[in-house]
Amino acid sequence: MAHPVLADRIRSAFAEDVRLGLTRSPQKELPSKYLYDDVGSALFDVITVLPEYGVTRAEERVLMAHAGDLARLVPDATLVAELGSGSGRKTRRILDALSTRRRITYCPIEISPAALAQCERALGDLERVDIAGYQNEYLDGLKRIVEERRRTGDRLLVMFLGSTIGNFRRLAAAHFLRDIRHLMRPGDALILGADLLKPEAVLVNAYDDPAGVTAAFNLNLLGRLNRELGANFDLREFEHEARFDPVAGAIEMHLRSRRDQTVTIEAAGCAIEFAEGETIWTEASHKYTRDDIVQMGDVAGFSLTAQWTDTEWPFAESLFIAR
Ligand code: TRP
Repeated sequence: MAHPVLADRIRSAFAEDVRLGLTRSPQKELPSKYLYDDVGSALFDVITVLPEYGVTRAEERVLMAHAGDLARLVPDATLVAELGSGSGRKTRRILDALSTRRRITYCPIEISPAALAQCERALGDLERVDIAGYQNEYLDGLKRIVEERRRTGDRLLVMFLGSTIGNFRRLAAAHFLRDIRHLMRPGDALILGADLLKPEAVLVNAYDDPAGVTAAFNLNLLGRLNRELGANFDLREFEHEARFDPVAGAIEMHLRSRRDQTVTIEAAGCAIEFAEGETIWTEASHKYTRDDIVQMGDVAGFSLTAQWTDTEWPFAESLFIAR
């Protein structure tokens, strides 16, 4: 449990983000990072094994096939930082390959304490890997890692898997990669997973599965506002919606109000009115071409070294070196 003063501060930042997002006009929104509390992270783990959501398995196949190539291309990586490790399953293969010749330090960065603990447990048995978890947001965590862990001669490998980059708007994604680049040194490596464009029907199914797991994952955000901020959302009066925006090349996730209603959020000190059919935008998942990814990296100060793709579910793993 965080220090009580710190916990208060985190809660009031959360309340303020929620107030700002829900008073936005015309489109109400909630920051997607709040989807991942313990319940949300557990539900997301289920999403990753759904037949309709091919993203995670595609990335696993690419990493299984190419972890050895990766280790050969960055043979001197000694410090590995991962942005959003989740349960750590995909990471095992890479750490295994990287640590065959030397001891390495692995620093997962996670906002969910449960996911972080699970990752540390899942990878704790790797022999030549020292694990130090950081419960932080991505850039804060990476900054701490380079300050606290980096020793002279260390080569840093930053891992950003799962296509989380797609959850930024295109311009913000480029800025985010540049922010990461600024915490790195020339010669350091970045491995970036990104989901590729595919037919609309496939994408909509992936983000609105018939068993309703993705719906539960999205709706849990409102449940979290009830639990942590004293809100009174009736989850049955909202529904999950996934739509494809062809201009942005992105799937957008929304929560749609089934009727006119007013919801109060105690800790945010506000009452929010919803019209029937009005939505809260919770997440966008941008899809890329292979060239988009190379360009995005280039603008941020990285040169592409290798790009591996899965053919069954188009997905690209790109290895960049900081210039
Ligand atoms: N990073 C995941 C993605 O964009 C997140 C995600 C999957 C997600 N399914 C979702 C986010 C449903 C919100 C709602 O693929």
